[in-house]
Amino acid sequence: MAAKKTASKNGIAKAWGGVFTEKTDKRMELFSESISYDQRLYKEDIAGSIAHARMLADVGILTPKEFDLIRKNLKEIEKEIESGAFEFTTEKEDIHMHIEAELTRRLGDAGRKLHTARSRNDQISTDMRLWVRGAIDTLCALLRDLQNAFVSRCDRDFDVILPAYTHTQRAQPVLAPHYWLSYCEKFERDRQRLLDCRKRVNVLSLGAAACAGTSLPIDRAKTAEYLGFDQVGRNSLDISGDRDFAAEFAFDLAQIAIHLSGWAEEWIWWSTCEFNFLRLPQAFCTGSSIMPQKVNPDTLELIRGKTARTVGNLQSLLVLLKGLPQAYNRDMQEDKEPIFDSFDTVRASLELAAPLAAQAELNRGAIAARINAGYLDATSLMEYMIRAGVPQRVAHGIVGRLVRSAMERGIRLSEIPLDEMRAAAPEIGEDVYRYLDAAGAVRAMKSYGSTAPAEVKKQIRWWKKQLQR
Ligand code: ARG
Repeated sequence: MAAKKTASKNGIAKAWGGVFTEKTDKRMELFSESISYDQRLYKEDIAGSIAHARMLADVGILTPKEFDLIRKNLKEIEKEIESGAFEFTTEKEDIHMHIEAELTRRLGDAGRKLHTARSRNDQISTDMRLWVRGAIDTLCALLRDLQNAFVSRCDRDFDVILPAYTHTQRAQPVLAPHYWLSYCEKFERDRQRLLDCRKRVNVLSLGAAACAGTSLPIDRAKTAEYLGFDQVGRNSLDISGDRDFAAEFAFDLAQIAIHLSGWAEEWIWWSTCEFNFLRLPQAFCTGSSIMPQKVNPDTLELIRGKTARTVGNLQSLLVLLKGLPQAYNRDMQEDKEPIFDSFDTVRASLELAAPLAAQAELNRGAIAARINAGYLDATSLMEYMIRAGVPQRVAHGIVGRLVRSAMERGIRLSEIPLDEMRAAAPEIGEDVYRYLDAAGAVRAMKSYGSTAPAEVKKQIRWWKKQLQR
């Protein structure tokens, strides 16, 4: 009885004991364990096992009594893990082995039947799919919270005009809510991307078993129904080794982090003495240990900084999957830590971003004092001339010369006298001043999706309705 001898020498019997005559090297055991991080899949693992056992009972592989016992004990094990009383050991490698071993310790043969018509290959894939599905739902709710934070300030900030920048140079004036809703759009695309990814996540792999399926009379449609999966994986070889969903999810997370990092960067500048547009809530800042005057935007800096790991995690996953032959390979165990880390990072970032976005205060006086610097209304003057019949290229040149002359004299376009304007272009009438300065330029806007006040009002209404759903 070589296997038994191996097992007892080894402390804990390995689930694959039969064919082995040598015990596992301790170094290998530590190298290959995943329990230190896959224990966070316990709920999904138990849910998957209960659904699987229920299906096995449906098709007569388990008796109703065995199923009841299995379900009841799995639920108890779940409570024990939740309470922190459950003992994890690297000898039992992963979450699947821990739960099955405990079930068998409690139930004997009924526990030994649970792993019928399944393998850890389809089991881990199922656990991850369930976990990612839950993570997507959490993220979608957090993205909504952040969108709500931006929308919640639109009415309050409606009368504030901010400079829009291109190339980090002052470009055109926009209403503050136009900025707030521009962030909402980005996070909406992120939400839609997650929901789209969810379709490919929500496919049943259980029943693919190791790679080829099973000769036992299982009913995979039932398992899918019990677990809320929309589809059953069509090809056992494919679905048991598919990790596209993990890579896709990691991309979605990195993209959210990248969006957050751009916003964080912008607000870090805006809170500087040089910009002085924003006062950040102190609850999300820290001070300096040496310079008494400092209030540093650490939350935003870390949201920006932690983006790096989400990009690294995506890279890790893609490289991990490169060149893997069909079906399950142990390499795939390495998908978990990057996924968990990206999720934890983005979740924490979103949880902080929402209150910070809602609570930061615009420094209206400082913004207003400088909003007419930088000739933000030059395009408005050019478009006025186009409306008066001047070809765009000609108007562009004339306004360029007017801007240069105003710059040399240190005045605004609106301060150039009418006769001088008319000397530059006789098409200009005295109504031109209505279209100048930041306020005039914003008021003149018309196009769909522009910063025209009427358009922005429409968009705010649209978003409010959207967010009520
Ligand atoms: N811990 C493994 C993973 O995360 C579970 C599947 C192991 N399968 C196997 N045949 N060794 O991928």
